[in-house]
Amino acid sequence: MEKEILVRANKKFREEVKKGLTTQPKFLPSKYFYDKKGDKLFQQIMAMPEYYLTDCEFDILEKYKSKLTAYFAEKNGFDLIELGAGDGKKTKILLRYLIENNIDFEYLPIDISSNSLKKLEKSIKKNLPEVKMKTLQGMYFSVLEKLSEYNKRKKVIIVLGSNIGNLKHKKAVEFLNNIQKSMQQGDLLFMGFDQKKNPQTILNAYNDKTGITAAFNKNILHRINRELKANFVVDEFLHWESYNPETGTAKSFLVSKIPQQVKISALDLNIDFKQWETIHVEISQKYTDEVVEWLAGKAGLKIKECFSDNRAYYKNYLFEVDKK
Ligand SMILES: C[S@@+](CC[C@H](N)C(=O)[O-])C[C@H]1O[C@@H](n2cnc3c(N)ncnc32)[C@H](O)[C@@H]1O
Repeated sequence: MEKEILVRANKKFREEVKKGLTTQPKFLPSKYFYDKKGDKLFQQIMAMPEYYLTDCEFDILEKYKSKLTAYFAEKNGFDLIELGAGDGKKTKILLRYLIENNIDFEYLPIDISSNSLKKLEKSIKKNLPEVKMKTLQGMYFSVLEKLSEYNKRKKVIIVLGSNIGNLKHKKAVEFLNNIQKSMQQGDLLFMGFDQKKNPQTILNAYNDKTGITAAFNKNILHRINRELKANFVVDEFLHWESYNPETGTAKSFLVSKIPQQVKISALDLNIDFKQWETIHVEISQKYTDEVVEWLAGKAGLKIKECFSDNRAYYKNYLFEVDKK
């Protein structure tokens, strides 16, 4: 079964790399940043002083864990489903609190990275052995279809780290709507959305001086080299970040410093780069309450409550299905 999933994932990776590098302008999906090395680099990003998102969400969860538990807890227990769980560092605040208060729940983390899931399972078994858990490996969209099977009791779906910000608004509505379709009356969705703020603060978060973000983004080229037998000279690409304060969209690019040709043997493909040609690798959307309300409305969801850190840098919204 696991082998079958891996074969399918690899096929999708090949298709998406081929599509992205043969389209003009070139692009690659950021979900492929996360392999063993990428997961580690992302953990380093979360520990950087410039990457305010983690601390903000940490504070929100600490401050509101009791209020959230009151929303989540149910007589017959509930299923806590996390999309894009990563290392679950912030989720553990909630898990610990739920265990300390003898709340009946099962934890179901979902992630594209099997490496992350294995590590998460190991650390929860060690540090919070009372947590009942089952990991699900896969991409949001395919795993979401299976979520409707979890309908025997209340579902609480959580998405932390502003993962939704990696999607353009159209895809974000689709994502929210897929979640909404898996929800029944009484189910809840708790999701983090990074907010618009001083543009410099945002740029700094994705442009650290130590070069960790650059290494994280360039990891996708190393991955293509390794998994698809390519010959990217990674140092001939530079990491470039931009932020548009009007639209709230931060964009990450890899820029070819020289004219060059890259061979991707596994795809039987030669890709030409002009000097300063770009590969768009990630968007990190920043939001306002109005935009979140608009996205939710389009997806058939309603905001129940919104939780913010002191500086209003970051907000977590609690949604329910809109009965209309
Ligand atoms: C920005 S990290 C956030 C991790 C965690 N939620 C947090 O807040 O610390 C994104 C996580 O989502 C996973 N991910 C990214 N794209 C995904 C996709 N399309 N489907 C499933 N997981 C995905 C990555 O492997 C990674 O663990």
